[in-house]
Amino acid sequence: MKKRDFLSLFDFNASELTALIQRAIEDKKAFKAGRAEPLLAGRTLAMIFEKSSTRTRVSFEAGMVQLGGHALFLSSRDTQLGRGEPIADTARVLSGMVDLVMIRNDDHAQQVCFAENAQIPVINGLSDYNHPCQLLADVMTFEEARGSIQGAKVAWVGDGNNVCHSWMAAAQQFGFELAVACPDGFQPDAALSQRTAEQVSISDDPKSACEGADLVVTDVWTSMGQEADNAVRLQAFKGYQINDALMATAKADALFMHCLPAHRGEEVSASVIDGRHSIVWQEAENRLHAQKALMLTLLNK
Ligand code: CP
Ligand code: NVA
Repeated sequence: MKKRDFLSLFDFNASELTALIQRAIEDKKAFKAGRAEPLLAGRTLAMIFEKSSTRTRVSFEAGMVQLGGHALFLSSRDTQLGRGEPIADTARVLSGMVDLVMIRNDDHAQQVCFAENAQIPVINGLSDYNHPCQLLADVMTFEEARGSIQGAKVAWVGDGNNVCHSWMAAAQQFGFELAVACPDGFQPDAALSQRTAEQVSISDDPKSACEGADLVVTDVWTSMGQEADNAVRLQAFKGYQINDALMATAKADALFMHCLPAHRGEEVSASVIDGRHSIVWQEAENRLHAQKALMLTLLNK
């Protein structure tokens, strides 16, 4: 059987994604009830990190341990990748030693290159282009709280970059409406906007994006690697903070999500992220459960 990768939500079809979310929800309940099968006993996940991480690293590593397998943390600083060994060669070598690879790096094209040269499934743990694992957890969290996300209205307010791109792909794959509001110059990728135009509208107006929304989502204004532009970004994103006034334009019982880490007082007020709409801790926990279901699916378990 041909190996499969998960570099984007478009790597799975809509019914596969729905089944994966259902499995994650059911397996989470079973796990919490003390029922856990070591379905990945003897299997190894290699995790390549070129950037910092708390949630992604811990959820993949803990998830693998809970499934009876083992996870290796490989920082590009300590491996030969950081000294210029070609990514394709690393992919070929790891394919002979481990069962699964997760990569967090900057250049999405390098992930594609890795996957093309690997004989084993490759998972995107965040690139400059997208963050598909985050969206598995986010959709799972919405569905645990509110039932099917199909037909819901989701508002994205902030930077139109990696996490926003995965929300756009999710809107198409899960069939919900996504209203994106970004300042000029920070809009999402044009090709993806065209591909998802049926479900996704893009404006520079946070208020109209949030109006009547079932869920409001944001992310940091300065992503990893963009620290030198912080001052310009703080200026550009003024008026895009999710605060009580903006949440008041959404549905009364609207949810708030943020992939974390968050900057209270920048993209979100403390009153919102620590308030009654926020579901961010359940969202973070679900990275564990969604990715366990993902690893099992990729390894045909
Ligand atoms: N949301 C997320 O991916 O968090 P980390 O950067 O901590 O992995
Ligand atoms: N947009 C953020 C997401 C972190 C999980 C970044 O790229 O730093």
